[in-house]
Amino acid sequence: MQATETATMPDARRALEICNACRYCEGFCAVFPAMERRREFPAADLGFLANLCHGCNGCYHACQYAPPHEWALNLPAALARVRHESWSETIRPAALRGLLRRPLAATAGAVLAAGLAALASAHGRATAHTGPGAFYAVIPLATLIALGAATLLFALLAMAASTLAAWRGLGGTPRSIHVLRALHDAATLKNLGGGGGLCPYPGERPSGARRHAHHALAGGFLLAFAATSVATIDEHVLGWHAPYPWLSLPVLLGTAGGVLMLAGAAGLIALKRLADPAPLAAETLAADQVLLWLLAAIAASGLALLALRETAAMPLLLVLHLALVLGLFVTMPFGKFLHAPHRFAALVRDAMERDSARS
Ligand code: HEM
Ligand code: SF4
Ligand code: SF4
Repeated sequence: MQATETATMPDARRALEICNACRYCEGFCAVFPAMERRREFPAADLGFLANLCHGCNGCYHACQYAPPHEWALNLPAALARVRHESWSETIRPAALRGLLRRPLAATAGAVLAAGLAALASAHGRATAHTGPGAFYAVIPLATLIALGAATLLFALLAMAASTLAAWRGLGGTPRSIHVLRALHDAATLKNLGGGGGLCPYPGERPSGARRHAHHALAGGFLLAFAATSVATIDEHVLGWHAPYPWLSLPVLLGTAGGVLMLAGAAGLIALKRLADPAPLAAETLAADQVLLWLLAAIAASGLALLALRETAAMPLLLVLHLALVLGLFVTMPFGKFLHAPHRFAALVRDAMERDSARS
Protein backbone atom coordinates (compact mmCIF):
# COMPACT_ATOMS: atom_id res chain seq x y z
CA MET A 1 0.00 0.00 0.00
CA GLN A 2 2.97 2.30 -0.22
CA ALA A 3 4.42 3.74 -3.38
CA THR A 4 8.18 3.57 -2.72
CA GLU A 5 10.15 0.70 -4.25
CA THR A 6 12.13 -1.04 -1.50
CA ALA A 7 14.92 -3.61 -1.38
CA THR A 8 12.72 -6.62 -0.60
CA MET A 9 10.16 -5.99 -3.34
CA PRO A 10 11.92 -7.74 -6.27
CA ASP A 11 11.82 -11.07 -4.39
CA ALA A 12 8.11 -10.70 -3.56
CA ARG A 13 7.37 -9.66 -7.14
CA ARG A 14 9.23 -12.71 -8.49
CA ALA A 15 7.25 -14.98 -6.13
CA LEU A 16 3.91 -13.41 -7.11
CA GLU A 17 4.71 -13.70 -10.82
CA ILE A 18 5.38 -17.42 -10.40
CA CYS A 19 2.20 -17.80 -8.31
CA ASN A 20 0.19 -15.90 -10.91
CA ALA A 21 1.22 -18.47 -13.51
CA CYS A 22 0.75 -21.47 -11.19
CA ARG A 23 -2.42 -20.49 -9.24
CA TYR A 24 -2.48 -23.77 -7.32
CA CYS A 25 -3.18 -21.91 -4.04
CA GLU A 26 -5.94 -19.65 -5.37
CA GLY A 27 -8.53 -20.84 -2.83
CA PHE A 28 -6.25 -20.38 0.19
CA CYS A 29 -6.84 -16.74 1.10
CA ALA A 30 -7.72 -13.31 -0.31
CA VAL A 31 -4.14 -12.70 -1.53
CA PHE A 32 -4.45 -15.05 -4.50
CA PRO A 33 -7.69 -13.64 -6.00
CA ALA A 34 -6.26 -10.12 -5.45
CA MET A 35 -3.05 -11.21 -7.19
CA GLU A 36 -5.03 -12.66 -10.10
CA ARG A 37 -6.74 -9.29 -10.62
CA ARG A 38 -3.28 -7.94 -11.54
CA ARG A 39 -0.69 -8.59 -14.23
CA GLU A 40 1.96 -6.33 -12.74
CA PHE A 41 2.95 -5.61 -9.16
CA PRO A 42 4.00 -1.99 -8.62
CA ALA A 43 5.20 -0.96 -5.16
CA ALA A 44 1.80 0.19 -3.85
CA ASP A 45 0.13 -3.08 -4.90
CA LEU A 46 2.88 -5.14 -3.28
CA GLY A 47 2.34 -3.29 0.00
CA PHE A 48 -1.40 -3.97 -0.25
CA LEU A 49 -0.93 -7.69 -0.97
CA ALA A 50 1.67 -7.98 1.82
CA ASN A 51 -0.75 -6.52 4.38
CA LEU A 52 -3.56 -8.72 3.06
CA CYS A 53 -1.42 -11.84 3.68
CA HIS A 54 -2.11 -13.16 7.18
CA GLY A 55 1.09 -15.19 7.34
CA CYS A 56 -0.79 -18.48 7.76
CA ASN A 57 2.02 -20.30 5.88
CA GLY A 58 -0.50 -22.54 4.06
CA CYS A 59 0.87 -21.66 0.62
CA TYR A 60 4.45 -22.43 1.71
CA HIS A 61 3.60 -25.95 2.82
CA ALA A 62 1.58 -26.58 -0.36
CA CYS A 63 4.17 -25.20 -2.76
CA GLN A 64 6.03 -27.48 -5.15
CA TYR A 65 8.57 -24.70 -5.78
CA ALA A 66 9.45 -24.16 -2.09
CA PRO A 67 12.97 -25.17 -0.92
CA PRO A 68 14.69 -27.51 -1.70
CA HIS A 69 13.35 -26.70 -5.21
CA GLU A 70 15.90 -24.54 -7.02
CA TRP A 71 13.40 -21.64 -7.24
CA ALA A 72 13.28 -21.60 -3.41
CA LEU A 73 9.87 -19.91 -3.47
CA ASN A 74 8.79 -18.61 -0.06
CA LEU A 75 5.77 -16.35 -0.52
CA PRO A 76 4.92 -15.86 3.21
CA ALA A 77 8.48 -14.75 4.06
CA ALA A 78 8.75 -12.50 0.99
CA LEU A 79 5.42 -10.82 1.85
CA ALA A 80 6.35 -10.50 5.55
CA ARG A 81 9.50 -8.56 4.57
CA VAL A 82 7.55 -6.25 2.26
CA ARG A 83 4.92 -5.82 4.99
CA HIS A 84 7.51 -4.63 7.48
CA GLU A 85 9.00 -2.27 4.94
CA SER A 86 5.55 -0.94 4.06
CA TRP A 87 5.05 0.01 7.71
CA SER A 88 8.55 1.41 8.03
CA GLU A 89 8.20 3.61 4.92
CA THR A 90 5.00 5.20 6.21
CA ILE A 91 5.89 5.68 9.90
CA ARG A 92 5.00 9.18 11.09
CA PRO A 93 6.91 11.12 12.38
CA ALA A 94 9.43 9.86 9.77
CA ALA A 95 12.35 10.40 12.19
CA LEU A 96 11.11 7.38 14.17
CA ARG A 97 11.29 4.93 11.22
CA GLY A 98 14.50 3.18 12.34
CA LEU A 99 12.81 2.11 15.61
CA LEU A 100 10.76 -0.62 13.90
CA ARG A 101 14.03 -2.53 13.47
CA ARG A 102 14.99 -2.01 17.14
CA PRO A 103 11.75 -2.97 18.92
CA LEU A 104 13.32 -4.09 22.21
CA ALA A 105 15.43 -0.95 22.70
CA ALA A 106 12.56 1.31 21.57
CA THR A 107 10.02 -0.33 23.88
CA ALA A 108 12.37 -0.59 26.87
CA GLY A 109 13.27 3.11 26.43
CA ALA A 110 9.61 4.16 26.18
CA VAL A 111 8.57 2.12 29.25
CA LEU A 112 11.52 3.45 31.24
CA ALA A 113 10.80 7.07 30.29
CA ALA A 114 7.10 6.61 31.13
CA GLY A 115 8.03 4.95 34.44
CA LEU A 116 10.31 7.87 35.35
CA ALA A 117 7.58 10.38 34.45
CA ALA A 118 5.10 8.46 36.62
CA LEU A 119 7.61 8.20 39.50
CA ALA A 120 8.42 11.90 39.30
CA SER A 121 4.77 12.73 39.90
CA ALA A 122 4.14 9.99 42.49
CA HIS A 123 3.86 11.20 46.04
CA GLY A 124 2.42 8.19 47.82
CA ARG A 125 4.71 6.08 49.97
CA ALA A 126 4.89 2.29 49.71
CA THR A 127 2.12 1.89 52.25
CA ALA A 128 -1.44 0.65 51.90
CA HIS A 129 -3.94 3.22 50.60
CA THR A 130 -7.59 2.23 50.67
CA GLY A 131 -11.02 3.65 49.88
CA PRO A 132 -12.19 5.96 47.07
CA GLY A 133 -9.33 7.99 45.58
CA ALA A 134 -6.61 5.59 46.88
CA PHE A 135 -4.82 5.51 43.48
CA TYR A 136 -4.79 9.31 43.30
CA ALA A 137 -3.03 9.44 46.68
CA VAL A 138 -0.10 7.85 44.78
CA ILE A 139 -0.36 9.60 41.40
CA PRO A 140 -2.65 12.66 41.14
CA LEU A 141 -5.68 12.17 38.86
CA ALA A 142 -4.69 15.20 36.75
CA THR A 143 -1.27 13.63 36.06
CA LEU A 144 -2.82 10.28 35.14
CA ILE A 145 -5.17 12.00 32.70
CA ALA A 146 -2.44 14.20 31.19
CA LEU A 147 0.00 11.29 30.64
CA GLY A 148 -2.67 8.90 29.30
CA ALA A 149 -4.36 11.44 27.01
CA ALA A 150 -1.10 12.83 25.55
CA THR A 151 0.38 9.39 24.72
CA LEU A 152 -2.90 7.94 23.39
CA LEU A 153 -3.53 10.99 21.22
CA PHE A 154 0.01 10.72 19.82
CA ALA A 155 -0.54 7.00 19.08
CA LEU A 156 -3.88 7.51 17.33
CA LEU A 157 -2.76 10.50 15.24
CA ALA A 158 0.56 8.94 14.21
CA MET A 159 -1.05 5.58 13.31
CA ALA A 160 -3.77 7.35 11.31
CA ALA A 161 -1.12 9.39 9.43
CA SER A 162 0.86 6.21 8.65
CA THR A 163 -2.21 4.34 7.39
CA LEU A 164 -3.35 7.29 5.28
CA ALA A 165 0.12 7.59 3.73
CA ALA A 166 -0.11 3.90 2.76
CA TRP A 167 -3.65 4.30 1.44
CA ARG A 168 -2.65 7.20 -0.80
CA GLY A 169 -0.53 4.79 -2.90
CA LEU A 170 -3.69 3.03 -4.10
CA GLY A 171 -6.41 5.62 -3.72
CA GLY A 172 -10.18 5.19 -3.82
CA THR A 173 -12.98 5.97 -1.39
CA PRO A 174 -14.56 3.04 0.44
CA ARG A 175 -18.29 2.77 1.05
CA SER A 176 -19.70 1.73 4.41
CA ILE A 177 -20.37 -1.81 3.12
CA HIS A 178 -16.63 -2.20 2.41
CA VAL A 179 -15.76 -1.11 5.94
CA LEU A 180 -18.36 -3.52 7.36
CA ARG A 181 -16.96 -6.42 5.30
CA ALA A 182 -13.44 -5.54 6.45
CA LEU A 183 -14.65 -5.46 10.07
CA HIS A 184 -16.08 -8.96 9.61
CA ASP A 185 -12.88 -10.25 7.98
CA ALA A 186 -10.73 -8.70 10.74
CA ALA A 187 -12.96 -9.94 13.56
CA THR A 188 -12.95 -13.50 12.19
CA LEU A 189 -9.36 -13.40 10.85
CA LYS A 190 -10.86 -15.04 7.78
CA ASN A 191 -7.60 -15.04 5.87
CA LEU A 192 -5.82 -17.02 8.58
CA GLY A 193 -7.23 -20.04 6.77
CA GLY A 194 -4.47 -21.52 4.66
CA GLY A 195 -6.70 -23.65 2.45
CA GLY A 196 -8.97 -25.76 4.65
CA GLY A 197 -10.25 -22.91 6.83
CA LEU A 198 -7.59 -23.63 9.45
CA CYS A 199 -4.13 -22.13 9.58
CA PRO A 200 -1.27 -24.69 9.45
CA TYR A 201 0.72 -22.56 11.98
CA PRO A 202 2.79 -23.50 14.01
CA GLY A 203 3.57 -26.63 11.94
CA GLU A 204 2.12 -28.22 8.81
CA ARG A 205 -1.07 -29.60 10.37
CA PRO A 206 -4.29 -27.51 10.21
CA SER A 207 -4.84 -25.79 13.55
CA GLY A 208 -7.13 -23.06 14.85
CA ALA A 209 -4.71 -22.31 17.69
CA ARG A 210 -3.28 -19.05 16.36
CA ARG A 211 -6.69 -17.67 15.47
CA HIS A 212 -8.11 -18.53 18.90
CA ALA A 213 -5.12 -17.08 20.75
CA HIS A 214 -5.26 -13.89 18.67
CA HIS A 215 -9.02 -13.57 19.29
CA ALA A 216 -8.37 -13.86 23.04
CA LEU A 217 -5.56 -11.29 22.93
CA ALA A 218 -7.31 -8.71 20.74
CA GLY A 219 -10.71 -9.29 22.44
CA GLY A 220 -9.11 -8.95 25.88
CA PHE A 221 -7.40 -5.74 24.76
CA LEU A 222 -10.76 -4.29 23.64
CA LEU A 223 -12.40 -5.30 26.95
CA ALA A 224 -9.56 -3.68 28.93
CA PHE A 225 -9.98 -0.54 26.82
CA ALA A 226 -13.75 -0.63 27.48
CA ALA A 227 -13.04 -0.96 31.23
CA THR A 228 -10.91 2.19 31.15
CA SER A 229 -13.57 4.06 29.16
CA VAL A 230 -16.35 3.06 31.62
CA ALA A 231 -14.10 4.06 34.53
CA THR A 232 -13.56 7.46 32.90
CA ILE A 233 -17.34 7.98 32.71
CA ASP A 234 -17.75 6.81 36.34
CA GLU A 235 -15.04 9.25 37.44
CA HIS A 236 -15.95 12.35 35.45
CA VAL A 237 -19.69 12.04 34.81
CA LEU A 238 -20.92 10.16 37.86
CA GLY A 239 -18.25 11.39 40.29
CA TRP A 240 -17.42 7.87 41.57
CA HIS A 241 -13.74 7.54 42.48
CA ALA A 242 -11.58 4.44 41.82
CA PRO A 243 -10.83 1.82 43.12
CA TYR A 244 -14.28 0.44 42.22
CA PRO A 245 -16.04 -2.51 43.91
CA TRP A 246 -15.22 -6.04 42.71
CA LEU A 247 -18.62 -6.44 41.03
CA SER A 248 -18.64 -3.01 39.31
CA LEU A 249 -18.59 -2.80 35.49
CA PRO A 250 -15.02 -1.43 35.12
CA VAL A 251 -13.60 -4.15 37.40
CA LEU A 252 -15.54 -6.97 35.71
CA LEU A 253 -14.57 -5.77 32.21
CA GLY A 254 -10.95 -5.19 33.28
CA THR A 255 -10.65 -8.61 34.91
CA ALA A 256 -12.12 -10.44 31.91
CA GLY A 257 -9.94 -8.36 29.56
CA GLY A 258 -6.76 -8.97 31.57
CA VAL A 259 -7.32 -12.73 31.81
CA LEU A 260 -8.08 -13.02 28.08
CA MET A 261 -5.09 -10.86 27.12
CA LEU A 262 -2.76 -12.90 29.30
CA ALA A 263 -4.09 -16.22 27.99
CA GLY A 264 -3.92 -15.02 24.36
CA ALA A 265 -0.41 -13.58 24.66
CA ALA A 266 0.85 -16.70 26.49
CA GLY A 267 -0.70 -18.90 23.79
CA LEU A 268 0.90 -16.90 20.96
CA ILE A 269 4.29 -16.91 22.74
CA ALA A 270 4.08 -20.69 23.17
CA LEU A 271 3.05 -21.19 19.51
CA LYS A 272 5.94 -19.02 18.39
CA ARG A 273 8.39 -21.31 20.16
CA LEU A 274 6.94 -24.29 18.29
CA ALA A 275 6.68 -22.54 14.91
CA ASP A 276 8.42 -24.01 11.88
CA PRO A 277 11.03 -21.32 11.04
CA ALA A 278 11.16 -22.14 7.29
CA PRO A 279 8.25 -19.90 6.10
CA LEU A 280 9.04 -17.06 8.53
CA ALA A 281 11.11 -13.94 7.87
CA ALA A 282 13.54 -14.03 10.80
CA GLU A 283 14.18 -10.27 10.80
CA THR A 284 10.50 -9.50 11.48
CA LEU A 285 10.09 -11.77 14.51
CA ALA A 286 11.58 -9.51 17.21
CA ALA A 287 8.79 -6.97 16.72
CA ASP A 288 6.17 -9.75 17.25
CA GLN A 289 7.92 -10.99 20.38
CA VAL A 290 8.30 -7.55 21.95
CA LEU A 291 4.62 -6.67 21.46
CA LEU A 292 3.55 -10.09 22.78
CA TRP A 293 5.64 -9.76 25.95
CA LEU A 294 4.58 -6.13 26.46
CA LEU A 295 0.88 -7.04 26.22
CA ALA A 296 1.41 -10.01 28.56
CA ALA A 297 3.19 -7.73 31.07
CA ILE A 298 0.39 -5.12 30.86
CA ALA A 299 -2.23 -7.79 31.57
CA ALA A 300 -0.22 -9.42 34.38
CA SER A 301 0.56 -6.09 36.11
CA GLY A 302 -3.08 -4.98 35.78
CA LEU A 303 -4.36 -8.19 37.37
CA ALA A 304 -1.72 -7.98 40.13
CA LEU A 305 -2.72 -4.36 40.80
CA LEU A 306 -6.34 -5.45 41.13
CA ALA A 307 -5.51 -8.35 43.45
CA LEU A 308 -3.11 -6.34 45.66
CA ARG A 309 -4.80 -2.92 45.52
CA GLU A 310 -5.33 -2.75 49.27
CA THR A 311 -1.75 -3.70 50.17
CA ALA A 312 1.55 -1.79 50.39
CA ALA A 313 2.50 -3.22 46.95
CA MET A 314 -0.15 -1.03 45.27
CA PRO A 315 1.96 2.16 44.67
CA LEU A 316 4.76 0.24 42.94
CA LEU A 317 2.34 -1.86 40.88
CA LEU A 318 0.43 1.26 39.86
CA VAL A 319 3.61 2.94 38.59
CA LEU A 320 4.67 -0.28 36.79
CA HIS A 321 1.27 -0.82 35.14
CA LEU A 322 1.06 2.82 34.10
CA ALA A 323 4.60 2.77 32.66
CA LEU A 324 3.83 -0.36 30.59
CA VAL A 325 0.54 1.04 29.25
CA LEU A 326 2.11 4.40 28.36
CA GLY A 327 5.05 2.54 26.80
CA LEU A 328 2.59 0.65 24.59
CA PHE A 329 0.83 3.86 23.51
CA VAL A 330 4.12 5.61 22.69
CA THR A 331 5.49 2.67 20.64
CA MET A 332 2.25 1.81 18.81
CA PRO A 333 3.01 4.03 15.77
CA PHE A 334 6.46 2.55 15.12
CA GLY A 335 6.07 -1.06 16.27
CA LYS A 336 4.22 -4.25 15.42
CA PHE A 337 0.93 -2.68 16.57
CA LEU A 338 0.89 -0.90 13.20
CA HIS A 339 -0.25 -4.22 11.72
CA ALA A 340 -3.78 -3.60 13.03
CA PRO A 341 -4.60 -0.40 11.07
CA HIS A 342 -2.52 -1.42 8.02
CA ARG A 343 -4.12 -4.86 7.82
CA PHE A 344 -7.54 -3.33 8.34
CA ALA A 345 -6.91 -0.88 5.48
CA ALA A 346 -5.84 -3.80 3.25
CA LEU A 347 -9.08 -5.63 4.10
CA VAL A 348 -11.12 -2.52 3.21
CA ARG A 349 -9.24 -2.23 -0.07
CA ASP A 350 -9.84 -5.91 -0.81
CA ALA A 351 -13.58 -5.49 -0.16
CA MET A 352 -13.60 -2.56 -2.62
CA GLU A 353 -11.77 -4.55 -5.29
CA ARG A 354 -14.02 -7.61 -4.88
CA ASP A 355 -17.02 -5.34 -5.26
CA SER A 356 -15.82 -3.73 -8.47
CA ALA A 357 -14.67 -7.12 -9.87
CA ARG A 358 -18.27 -8.39 -9.43
CA SER A 359 -19.89 -5.43 -11.20
C1 HEM B 1 -7.65 -5.03 12.53
C2 HEM B 1 -7.39 -5.80 13.54
C3 HEM B 1 -6.32 -6.89 13.51
C4 HEM B 1 -5.99 -7.76 12.50
C5 HEM B 1 -6.62 -7.90 11.12
C6 HEM B 1 -4.89 -8.56 12.99
C7 HEM B 1 -4.28 -9.58 12.29
C8 HEM B 1 -3.19 -10.29 12.70
C9 HEM B 1 -2.56 -11.36 11.99
C10 HEM B 1 -3.05 -11.89 10.66
C11 HEM B 1 -1.51 -11.78 12.70
C12 HEM B 1 -0.56 -12.92 12.33
C13 HEM B 1 0.46 -12.48 11.36
C14 HEM B 1 1.41 -11.47 11.91
O1 HEM B 1 2.13 -11.77 12.86
O2 HEM B 1 1.40 -10.35 11.41
C15 HEM B 1 -1.42 -10.96 13.87
C16 HEM B 1 -0.45 -11.06 14.83
C17 HEM B 1 -0.46 -10.38 16.01
N1 HEM B 1 -1.43 -9.52 16.45
FE1 HEM B 1 -3.02 -8.87 15.39
N2 HEM B 1 -4.58 -8.16 14.25
C18 HEM B 1 -5.43 -7.15 14.62
C19 HEM B 1 -5.48 -6.49 15.84
C20 HEM B 1 -4.65 -6.77 16.90
C21 HEM B 1 -4.77 -6.19 18.21
C22 HEM B 1 -5.85 -5.20 18.63
C23 HEM B 1 -3.74 -6.71 18.95
C24 HEM B 1 -3.35 -6.48 20.37
C25 HEM B 1 -3.99 -5.97 21.27
C26 HEM B 1 -2.97 -7.59 18.12
C27 HEM B 1 -1.82 -8.26 18.51
C28 HEM B 1 -1.09 -9.10 17.71
C29 HEM B 1 0.16 -9.70 18.09
C30 HEM B 1 0.88 -9.53 19.41
C31 HEM B 1 0.57 -10.50 17.02
C32 HEM B 1 1.83 -11.34 16.92
C33 HEM B 1 1.43 -12.77 17.15
C34 HEM B 1 2.50 -13.73 16.79
O3 HEM B 1 3.57 -13.31 16.39
O4 HEM B 1 2.22 -14.93 16.88
N3 HEM B 1 -3.57 -7.63 16.89
N4 HEM B 1 -2.48 -10.08 13.87
S1 SF4 C 1 2.80 -20.76 -3.53
FE1 SF4 C 1 3.63 -22.28 -4.94
S2 SF4 C 1 1.98 -23.74 -5.29
FE2 SF4 C 1 1.05 -21.88 -4.40
S3 SF4 C 1 0.42 -20.66 -6.18
FE3 SF4 C 1 2.47 -19.99 -5.59
S4 SF4 C 1 3.83 -21.19 -6.89
FE4 SF4 C 1 1.85 -22.23 -6.92
S1 SF4 D 1 -2.34 -15.70 4.00
FE1 SF4 D 1 -1.38 -17.71 4.03
S2 SF4 D 1 -1.92 -18.67 2.08
FE2 SF4 D 1 -2.31 -16.48 1.90
S3 SF4 D 1 -0.43 -15.64 1.00
FE3 SF4 D 1 -0.27 -15.41 3.20
S4 SF4 D 1 0.82 -17.23 3.90
FE4 SF4 D 1 0.07 -17.67 1.81
